[in-house]
Amino acid sequence: MSDNFAYPVGLRLSGRRVVVLGAGQVAQRRLPALIAAGADIVLISPSATASVEAMAEAGEVRWERRKYQDGDFDGAWYALITTDDPQANAAASAEAEARRVWCVRSDDAEASTAWTPATGRSEGVTVAVLTGRDPRRSAAVRDAVVEGLRDGTLAAPRHRARGPHVALVGGGPGDPDLITVRGRRLLAEADVVVADRLGPRDLLDELPPHVEVIDAAKIPYGRFMAQEAINNALIEHAKAGKSVVRLKGGDPFVFGRGMEEAHALAEAGIPCTVVPGVTSAISVPAVAGIPVTHRGVAHEFTVVSGHVAPDDPSSLVDWAALAKLRGTLVLLMAVEKIGSISATLIEHGRAANTPVAVVQEGTTATQRRVDATLATVAERVAAEGVRPPAVVVIGEVTALASGNHR
Ligand SMILES: C[S@@+](CC[C@H](N)C(=O)[O-])C[C@H]1O[C@@H](n2cnc3c(N)ncnc32)[C@H](O)[C@@H]1O
Repeated sequence: MSDNFAYPVGLRLSGRRVVVLGAGQVAQRRLPALIAAGADIVLISPSATASVEAMAEAGEVRWERRKYQDGDFDGAWYALITTDDPQANAAASAEAEARRVWCVRSDDAEASTAWTPATGRSEGVTVAVLTGRDPRRSAAVRDAVVEGLRDGTLAAPRHRARGPHVALVGGGPGDPDLITVRGRRLLAEADVVVADRLGPRDLLDELPPHVEVIDAAKIPYGRFMAQEAINNALIEHAKAGKSVVRLKGGDPFVFGRGMEEAHALAEAGIPCTVVPGVTSAISVPAVAGIPVTHRGVAHEFTVVSGHVAPDDPSSLVDWAALAKLRGTLVLLMAVEKIGSISATLIEHGRAANTPVAVVQEGTTATQRRVDATLATVAERVAAEGVRPPAVVVIGEVTALASGNHR
């Protein structure tokens, strides 16, 4: 048996009296977890930090503005002593000991009858780490475990059957680090991944061998439309009890047909989770040193699909109205039609010398940026052999001197 070996336990404090002495930084850090546990918290301290005061004002703790007195732990289940007065702390911990109230003393671990572990939460799992008297190590272990659970690198599959389910995950613009933590975790838990050509392809290499990766572009679609074939693949695999992730480039709802997939799944009665992603419309300019807004330069940015030419009857875009805006225009899928798009914008009033930047394969190792003006962009794109995927950014923000960027 060792004095450094604590017995771990989860206290269920809901509605139970917890007394906290002191209302400085330590109390401020500890109170939220006690509040979340539903404890009946009495806070005893002549003064408090602004954040603790706000908790009292919100009715989350009962604050008695005074110093500790003998008897304060009467009826308490748990006590936290955090004042900077060692004498008061010693008297209070002696009272806690006499009343058999578990007590944490922030100024003296040895005099404490309980230790606060480093805690963290991820998706219903509480992680609590104790390392004797090395709080930094506890925090580091906690961070590693929580991070691993969040991003799926620590495999902890749920063992309760979830039933058919599909996650529509926005994978970000291509760099594998730019998927969200939730997206990465769902990917790590998947049995089947239906992936697009764009997006973080590198992440697919990390998947365990049992995971079936389906290239959405290669799904045979016979008499179906390609999208319908993808929808059917999602539905079939989910119905077969697989955990299915539809991994999409950027954000699923920005020119991503994500809602069509969500509707198809709803019609088939299959629950679906949408995980937003970092859209190329903002992130690709950003990594090339272009902010889509900038104080005093652009107060708006508009994201437009350039996949159909302005004079195409199926176009839903009012290019004449866009030409009148002063802010930033971000065009996706516009490489092919850039000539007719730039000519239309100039024709309706956007200045021909407006600076333009085209960023190809943004956030990947092959990223490149080509600068031009509205008048020259079509010619520059052809001369430089720019190919999709590329984002076209039109506006003064592209001419801002940028700092270090790739
Ligand atoms: C069908 S849209 C999908 C957009 C995606 N849902 C998003 O939020 O980024 C595809 C277009 O996004 C842009 N795009 C996506 N990833 C890109 C990247 N890494 N670099 C440049 N453009 C990209 C290109 O304009 C491409 O033609």
